[in-house]
Amino acid sequence: MIGTPLSPTAVKVLLLGSGELGKEVTIALQRFGVEVVAVDRYADAPAHQVAHHAEVIDMTDAAQVRAVIDKHKPHYVLPEIEAIATDALEAVESEGLAEVIPSAKAVSATLDRERIRRLADEELGLPTSPYLFAGSLEEMRRAVTSIGFPCVVKPVMSSSGKGQSVLKGPDDIDAAWEAARTGARVNNDRVIIEGFVDFDYEITLLTVRAVDPSTGKLATYFCDPIGHRQVSGDYVESWQPQPMSEIAYGTARSVAARIATAMGDGEGTGRGVFGVELFVKGDEVYFSEVSPRPHDTGLVTLATQRLSEFELHARAVLGLPVDTTAVSPGASAVIYGRHEAVGIKFAGVAQALADPAVDVRLFGKPESFARRRMGVAVATAPTTDIARQKATRAAELVQPLVADAAEPTAPPTVAQETVAVKRPQPAQPRPPMPRGGPMGQPPRPPMGRPGGPRPGPAGPAGPRPVAPPPPGAGGHPAPPRRPGPSPA
Ligand SMILES: Nc1ncnc2c1ncn2[C@@H]1O[C@H](COP(=O)(O)OP(=O)(O)OP(=O)(O)O)[C@@H](O)[C@H]1O
Ligand SMILES: [Mg+2]
Repeated sequence: MIGTPLSPTAVKVLLLGSGELGKEVTIALQRFGVEVVAVDRYADAPAHQVAHHAEVIDMTDAAQVRAVIDKHKPHYVLPEIEAIATDALEAVESEGLAEVIPSAKAVSATLDRERIRRLADEELGLPTSPYLFAGSLEEMRRAVTSIGFPCVVKPVMSSSGKGQSVLKGPDDIDAAWEAARTGARVNNDRVIIEGFVDFDYEITLLTVRAVDPSTGKLATYFCDPIGHRQVSGDYVESWQPQPMSEIAYGTARSVAARIATAMGDGEGTGRGVFGVELFVKGDEVYFSEVSPRPHDTGLVTLATQRLSEFELHARAVLGLPVDTTAVSPGASAVIYGRHEAVGIKFAGVAQALADPAVDVRLFGKPESFARRRMGVAVATAPTTDIARQKATRAAELVQPLVADAAEPTAPPTVAQETVAVKRPQPAQPRPPMPRGGPMGQPPRPPMGRPGGPRPGPAGPAGPRPVAPPPPGAGGHPAPPRRPGPSPA
């Protein structure tokens, strides 16, 4: 049952972390009439701007986390970032004050590379890269020698690529140790040493644990695999679907189902969306890590799916049925701040949206940094190659400007071309893709050709040549996301 927000019957959700992913989750929850409290460490964070209540606290301080939960008495607590005092969440869960999504155990296990790796490998037997842990430079030296080169060193407590290094030889060891110690989220000398996986491509497999209305029990659902390209630990573009061989896709689903299921108690807990990060080489799949929440590379689902990962998460949390149907191939490209400034402006949004297959989200972050994610462009197209080109071009057309800068007088030429050639298309209905439903139903047919783009972990691959749309019915016509400009 769902009540009325701001009344005694309200269903209340408290978000710990109020960034762009939390903002979309908030909007999805609001559409069901849920009362949302958005919490972050700074004022006017993206989700603060759309929630019923906004709170600013130090989320790594257990007392402050507890106080904000006691104040608002939410039914559900949704951690949207990793850096949270998890002991407070464990207490809230064990005292039955609120349900932590997906579970306090999942949130603390995924915060720590050691716990999640041991769970994946030792308890679940999932395939991973070879790995060892070390707590001192000497220990790390021995571990690196045993794993061999190339290898990757990461602080166990870190995210977004911080403090990570790829080691090519013994000369890199000292610098990697220093980088790990200074780049870690918390003061902690512990590192993981992973064998470098020379993967063909990496994916996020969005996996949803939600109530199956036909059984009333939790079931596992999958979105189409998302391919992505990472630069310095941050995703710069993603696309869906990433073609995979039938064998690799089957293994990926099995790995994702096992790790997502392990995030709950086997009963009703552990609901929500999981971003399962996997490396794929040929038919081999390696588990890398999992986010117990929507994933940044999944921003592409704002364009590609009937229900975005944020809407899926909202439904799963509330115990509602989910539907992972894909609508069109698509892509997302990040819009960076490019400036260090407060209150920046964005020019070129109209030019970006002149292509009816493109959509843009500006997150409304109060302060911009050169490499801060300030927005995203998403696009649909008959193929992911074309969608990637459209999304990347749209992201380039959106120009962050410092507040006192003048608006560019003329839009870039490329934008004028876009306006000139793009006409609204009549809606083309497309049969829904066959889907993998709850586990136990027949799997979907294999997707596309094996292989695909090979985005190396550090290689800025640059724009790829655009393949022509496949002949005949091979491609999926992309329905326009919104009506185009009205005829003159
Ligand atoms: N063992 C490995 N072999 C090859 N590439 C790797 C390995 N580990 C990490 N990478 C590359 O580095 C990227 C970031 O690694 P990882 O996801 O572990 O870091 P993270 O700090 O958790 O990043 P994020 O928070 O953005 O997910 C991966 O997506 C992959 O491209
Ligand atoms: Mg990652």
